[in-house]
Amino acid sequence: MTTQPNFVREELLQELSESFRMHDQIPAELFSRYSIKRGLRNADGTGVLVGASRLGNVHGYIMNEGEREPIEGRLTYRGYNVYDLIHGLEQENRFGFEEVGYLLMCGSLPNRRQLTDFQHTIGLERALPDNFTEDMIMRAPSRDIMNKLAGATLALYSYDENPDETTVENIMRQGISLMAKFPVIISHAYQAKRRYFDGDSMFLHVPDPDRSTAENILHLIRPNGEYTADEALLLDRCLILHAEHGGGNNSSFTVRVTSSSGTDTYSSIAAAVSSLKGPRHGGANLRVVRQFDEIKENVRNWTDEGEVADYLRKIMDGAAGDGSGLIYGMGHAIYTLSDPRAVALKKAARPLAEKTGFSEEMALIELVEKLTPQIFAEKKGLDKPMCANVDLYSGFVYKMLGLPKSIYTPLFATARIVGWMAHRLEEVTSGGKIIRPAYKPLAKSTVYKNLDERG
Ligand code: COA
Repeated sequence: MTTQPNFVREELLQELSESFRMHDQIPAELFSRYSIKRGLRNADGTGVLVGASRLGNVHGYIMNEGEREPIEGRLTYRGYNVYDLIHGLEQENRFGFEEVGYLLMCGSLPNRRQLTDFQHTIGLERALPDNFTEDMIMRAPSRDIMNKLAGATLALYSYDENPDETTVENIMRQGISLMAKFPVIISHAYQAKRRYFDGDSMFLHVPDPDRSTAENILHLIRPNGEYTADEALLLDRCLILHAEHGGGNNSSFTVRVTSSSGTDTYSSIAAAVSSLKGPRHGGANLRVVRQFDEIKENVRNWTDEGEVADYLRKIMDGAAGDGSGLIYGMGHAIYTLSDPRAVALKKAARPLAEKTGFSEEMALIELVEKLTPQIFAEKKGLDKPMCANVDLYSGFVYKMLGLPKSIYTPLFATARIVGWMAHRLEEVTSGGKIIRPAYKPLAKSTVYKNLDERG
């Protein structure tokens, strides 16, 4: 595949960009002058209340005398504590992602008959339309699987006989289909990337309708298609922990915004995938892995607190890392003392690290988790708790499972599709109004000049 030639000259780019910078910078003080809720946040950092939901509840602090009081984080799906869901599945030693999808989309936990029927239907829906892999994935492979996933999602519109109808039944049907197909799309997109960009062989396994989502992912991604039961169960738990996170997270809110306009499921979900790709959202799991690769390269003694702390200071100063000043995998908009997803993944990671020879790396991650809040307080002068978020450990677990980096964020999407579809259903049935906030107009009224009069 060849990329398109670039006709936009460097000098032209400079001229256009300079013009933009001259006319379009908005000074920070204007945001406070006009009481603008930047990032839809209140002055105390809490989110602006823009809707109501029965889905995920992300509980990270309590308000006391008008102040945020830090607490251990709690995550519930339709009222069920995610820890209880996982604990129940562990006791019965079975896969649970499909069941959690049922819970989120349909509102209650399925009984045995309902679950079997749901799983069976997902199995039937797994296969991609005829020639979809050849036409939509292999003909235009992408270096980035998230971009391919967004494009493929949008393309599925063409293969749906009833794509636009926004009844509950139709959206539910599309949700089951997307939930079933995401593992196949990301795996085939990954295989195409291997073949066309990495010079490796491509293994196009077919999905197995009788296996769970987690088993299918491992089967489709691995060249030999093999995996152990423990590996598949661990991946299943990862999917459950990523399935939903309230309506305010960037990609679910994207689903809310797009669904409120009445657009179709494929357009709405493709937009959510695009949002999730961002490094401040789902894309952080990839940044975390890159960040640790860099720390491991530049810090001689991984157990030396002083040396690790100095490197973290450099990252926060923008002198190391990706220059953003962010330590990825740390901090959260709502959680304060702990992110329950990070707690669960860390617990799952420990025995796997011992078994796979990654204990030293695990200790380094834990050291970064311990030191970052101290350095954050020292640098920002803020007395604000900061905890590890889900991404600090998710990429590490995927790495120990031998999964390729390029599918870390797509795996997040493969899990979150059920949360997105549940938000879409909720928005379409009870949102009622197009989401349409306001922007303070800042441009001064300007008199039009003919071409010859312009300088
Ligand atoms: N490293 C360095 N600085 C951080 C930080 C981190 N991990 N997390 C927050 N900060 C900084 C912010 O940039 C902000 O600085 P500013 O006031 O100079 O602009 C300040 O701390 C306050 O941020 P806060 O309000 O606590 O966080 P937020 O709600 O705006 O952002 C995240 C939450 C998750 C976007 C943020 O913590 C972050 O970018 N973390 C790293 C990326 C990541 O791991 N994302 C995955 C999220 S699950």
